[in-house]
Amino acid sequence: METETKPLFLREVMEQPRVLANTLAQYVGPGYRLKMGRPPLDEDGIRRISRVYLTACGTSYHAALTARYLLEELACVPAVVEQASECGLHQQLVGPSTLAVAVSQSGRSRETLNALEAARRKGAATLALVNDATSPLARAADGCLTTLAGRVLAHSSTKAFTTQSLVLALMAFRIARARGLMRDTYLEEIQALGRIGETVRGTLAKCRGQVEPLARLLNAHSHLFILAKGSLLPMVYEGALKLKEIARLHAEGYSAGEFGHGPLALAGPDTPVALMAFSDARYEAAAFKDLARSLRSRRVPLVLFAEDGPRKDVELLTMADCAVLLPPAPPRLRPLTAILPFQLLACALGQMKGLDVDRPGGLLNGSRVPDENGGHPDLPAGSPSGAARGALDS
Ligand code: BG6
Repeated sequence: METETKPLFLREVMEQPRVLANTLAQYVGPGYRLKMGRPPLDEDGIRRISRVYLTACGTSYHAALTARYLLEELACVPAVVEQASECGLHQQLVGPSTLAVAVSQSGRSRETLNALEAARRKGAATLALVNDATSPLARAADGCLTTLAGRVLAHSSTKAFTTQSLVLALMAFRIARARGLMRDTYLEEIQALGRIGETVRGTLAKCRGQVEPLARLLNAHSHLFILAKGSLLPMVYEGALKLKEIARLHAEGYSAGEFGHGPLALAGPDTPVALMAFSDARYEAAAFKDLARSLRSRRVPLVLFAEDGPRKDVELLTMADCAVLLPPAPPRLRPLTAILPFQLLACALGQMKGLDVDRPGGLLNGSRVPDENGGHPDLPAGSPSGAARGALDS
């Protein structure tokens, strides 16, 4: 049966439609009202948030990056995202009117625990976003939001990442609403999120058949740049991390606008470049075509990720050596769907190389707090137990 041969990593990628729908249902009640538990902050406290400080490691850090765009765009609140291992860089910005959000699938990453503690010492209200509501991070924070990603057995985070990104979007919605914003757009936005299960399912189905040829192309190379703009940037950082961790390909996510200021020098026949050319916010067709022409002139293998359907940019597609076309999606869901082909690609390329995609060996021993009942700290945490403890209210 396929299930026996399917690696845990791929199984967890394919669980995303269901766990995303389950996670959404935990936070959105009748009439699209947000149910986010009891607040570490009352309504007035949420309104008075002057800054959101997010901290995390690895894939969770990339999820935290997605929140920054939404908090600033929708809630008009400044947000700073700090790698927990760099704790202190932005801590001087943290104070009593800061909401400090620690994002961690396991809830056991030592640096993230330390960064949250440092924010608390500065008087910030603290919120943990975890997949295990019994974890040390969940217990250490004033409030806790949980993802319903279910038990994470593969070493590398996939379903935890997308469910984290979803809950962080809902948190941004919640703060925006408390600040009297999103009056005219909330219903449309929350209904778009409501289609996340079917949108992710359709995207996975469409991408699965397209990643094999791309994996074969990349199997002949050791380096790859993945370029994007705006809110798609966290996705190319995360996609590059998956390719590093699971497929041992040196991939680098980079701003498409910045690529021409130096790194272009590295692009050549032995270093393919992938473009995330989705016609959503921040997509400038002319600029992408200029870049594509420049890459072609250097004989750079060009990979295009784009949207299929009426908005397909045929001229740009004709310049690509390989393309992965995603089905149309609501703009708010595009970033979340953009990571899916990279999860599938990393798995296909890793298996093509004969690698163990379930135990890639990218987790430094000792980077996690031991499990209370002696479980191996570097194994993913258990499934969440219990609903969110205290959190932002609805
Ligand atoms: C890394 C894992 O070691 O730890 C990543 O390989 C994960 O997948 C990161 O995102 C942070 O772990 P956590 O549990 O704090 O999200």
